[in-house]
Amino acid sequence: MVLQYQIPGNDFSSAGEASSNFKTVLKKLGLPSQTIRRVAIAMYEAEINTVIHGGGGECKAEVNGDRIRITFCDHGPGIQDVNLAMQAGYSTASEKIRELGFGAGMGLPNIQKYADDLQIDTEIGKGTTLVLTVNL
Ligand SMILES: Nc1ncnc2c1ncn2[C@@H]1O[C@H](COP(=O)(O)OP(=O)(O)OP(=O)(O)O)[C@@H](O)[C@H]1O
Ligand SMILES: [Mg+2]
Repeated sequence: MVLQYQIPGNDFSSAGEASSNFKTVLKKLGLPSQTIRRVAIAMYEAEINTVIHGGGGECKAEVNGDRIRITFCDHGPGIQDVNLAMQAGYSTASEKIRELGFGAGMGLPNIQKYADDLQIDTEIGKGTTLVLTVNL
């Protein structure tokens, strides 16, 4: 099964809709609640990053026999230093974004924690593709 979502950039009214929709789909499939929880947290963080940092993009969520794989693709500024971005507490979020409750610098570390695999492909000025995998 493959689902596609459009992630609007800088739009906080609909931010989180893709992860919320996919969570409902996984529940209907009857997957273990622990698995659904891990996918939902990791997917939400990647979705919010696409909204805030990536200027929006596309998301593809796939379920097959042995894994769930979710790809986020944006054409935003890219990530300067991925190792630095992966560190807990590192954030380039603006004051305005922090006032909205984001910018703790915990999104990528949490994706790393809850997903079985995380791949980030990024190019400055071109964009970022993030692929997270949760094994079933
Ligand atoms: N899609 C992206 N495009 C460009 N930069 C990104 C992207 N995703 C993450 N980053 C960069 O990596 C940093 C760390 O991301 P992370 O999700 O860990 O923290 P955050 O989004 O700043 O805060 P939080 O997720 O806790 O609200 C971001 O501040 C940003 O600089
Ligand atoms: Mg984040």
